[in-house]
Amino acid sequence: FPIVVLISGSGSNLQALIDQSLQGQLNVNISAVISNKADAYGLERAKQAAIPTHTLDHKLFESREAFDAELQKIIDQYSPKLVVLAGFMRILTESFARHYEGRMLNIHPSLLPKFKGLDTHQRAIEANEKEHGVSVHFVSAELDAGAVIIQASTEISSNDTAESLGNKVHTLEHIIYPLAVKWFSEDRITFHDGKASFDQTVL
Ligand code: GRF
Repeated sequence: FPIVVLISGSGSNLQALIDQSLQGQLNVNISAVISNKADAYGLERAKQAAIPTHTLDHKLFESREAFDAELQKIIDQYSPKLVVLAGFMRILTESFARHYEGRMLNIHPSLLPKFKGLDTHQRAIEANEKEHGVSVHFVSAELDAGAVIIQASTEISSNDTAESLGNKVHTLEHIIYPLAVKWFSEDRITFHDGKASFDQTVL
């Protein structure tokens, strides 16, 4: 089951996918890893795992449309059945999002629909939330607004900082993202009319 993973940074979620597929828990083949940042550590992780990598620097493009068109070209060379955004810090054009509708996932560090956008851990603490967490969702053109597939939560304790909370959330990410990808690859989650549908075995 060919997938392409898009990153901008550390790539610890990419690593979780690599590890689980090496261990045979996840039946996917990561055909390529693409980063918009040349210094993303996730590129090293991909190279270690002998996965082809591409760097596409968005600053070299004169518009978001031009960048997304080139990105789409690279992704589609691999004919992936799923595109996995794993810390890919770019806002997507509507046409790009529509092209991969129902076959592109993102992981967002909040219990959506709460705290879309950036600095989610700090914002959850400041809002005096009792719990916080992470969501995997289908990507739609609107930022962090696509159909949610799975969420995991953790309590916010009184001495949590954005950093300590972020670490707890990251641990959860590495559990639920491979799980969502596994379900998708087994055709147990599908997408129709903007909504996710689940096979009974998932529920
Ligand atoms: C994660 O916190 C994820 O939720 C967000 O970007 C971060 C990526 O982390 N979308 P990593 O690069 O996978 O370590």
